[in-house]
Amino acid sequence: MDIYKHRLNAVHQGMVTWGLDTLIVTPGAAMKYLSGFSEEGFERLLCLIVPDDRECVFICPSLNAQQARSNPAGITDIRSWNDGEGWDKTLKELSDQLDLDIGIIGVDEGMSARFLLRMQELLPTSLFKSAEKVFSECRIQKDAGELACLQHAAEITDRCGEAAIAACKEGTTEREIAMAVNNFIAAAGSQPAFEPIVAAGSNSALPHHSPGGRKLRNGEVVTLDIGARFDGYNGDITRVVSIGRPTPEAISIYRIVYEAHQAAKTAAGPGVTAQAVDNAARKVIIDAGYGEFFIHRTGHGIGLDEHEEPSIVSGNFQKLLPGMCFSIEPGIYLPGKFGVRLENIYTITNDGCRSFNREISPELLEANG
Ligand code: CO
Ligand code: CO
Repeated sequence: MDIYKHRLNAVHQGMVTWGLDTLIVTPGAAMKYLSGFSEEGFERLLCLIVPDDRECVFICPSLNAQQARSNPAGITDIRSWNDGEGWDKTLKELSDQLDLDIGIIGVDEGMSARFLLRMQELLPTSLFKSAEKVFSECRIQKDAGELACLQHAAEITDRCGEAAIAACKEGTTEREIAMAVNNFIAAAGSQPAFEPIVAAGSNSALPHHSPGGRKLRNGEVVTLDIGARFDGYNGDITRVVSIGRPTPEAISIYRIVYEAHQAAKTAAGPGVTAQAVDNAARKVIIDAGYGEFFIHRTGHGIGLDEHEEPSIVSGNFQKLLPGMCFSIEPGIYLPGKFGVRLENIYTITNDGCRSFNREISPELLEANG
């Protein structure tokens, strides 16, 4: 069966399970998943309407109509509106056809409040609910085509990681390395999955540091967290290297994080809970005496969204199943000193898990750029 028909069927089943009559989906991963198409409408409403028993409909600004018409899923009902008239009338007409006013409407959680609030005014008798459960349940196990896209994204990301390490030289700024990463991704015909994190020295103790004017100094570590996208699917790796000879403390922290990463990878497999994978990484770091410095979950699901289900976190008793894809990225962050995080993307197989990325170095390497 056509992949988009297959996905629509799964979404329809999810709508029954979660008691939703119609979905309204704004640009993002869910729209891309269902139609193969997603363009930003920005402040103009661009959305996909998914009724429970009829063909899907796009509502789109006239300036996006041509793009919407070429959607890979072959959805032919495209209702465009122009700036002079706005989208109220288009939605009202559709509401009359589909009885939206007496139904429960599921929306994506990324929908802008400006759209949701206006829809609630236009359809005061409809009930609006989150449709995230429907989407996450459908998208959590990747099919062969999706796994191939993630593999491709990982390969571009790996090469980008090497380029980033090669750009790490004493005296270079974080921002210059981030620019080199983005240039590499563009030259590979890809897009960044997110703005690269380049964190030198004490900045590496901040997991989500934004690259700035800080220069790389001899004897310090630098954290590189980067990702490239392929056909909408995201890559995400984190590498840590030393500028010149590393300190004994950096060597030792790196080794602990590496062992935690390996422990999580060894634990991950079909039927294992997400929490068990988090526990495996955390135990290594706690046993080494650094538990309080591992300040985030072990990983996140990845696919059309950079962060999606399954969350590899304590309290998530969800069992991992073949085709699920997620990061393993334990870290230790010593405030005011430095931090180390090591990240690869994995997929659950029939008997364990497989990395999309190249192996992480067991030793803290010197960047010799
Ligand atoms: Co990540
Ligand atoms: Co990352």
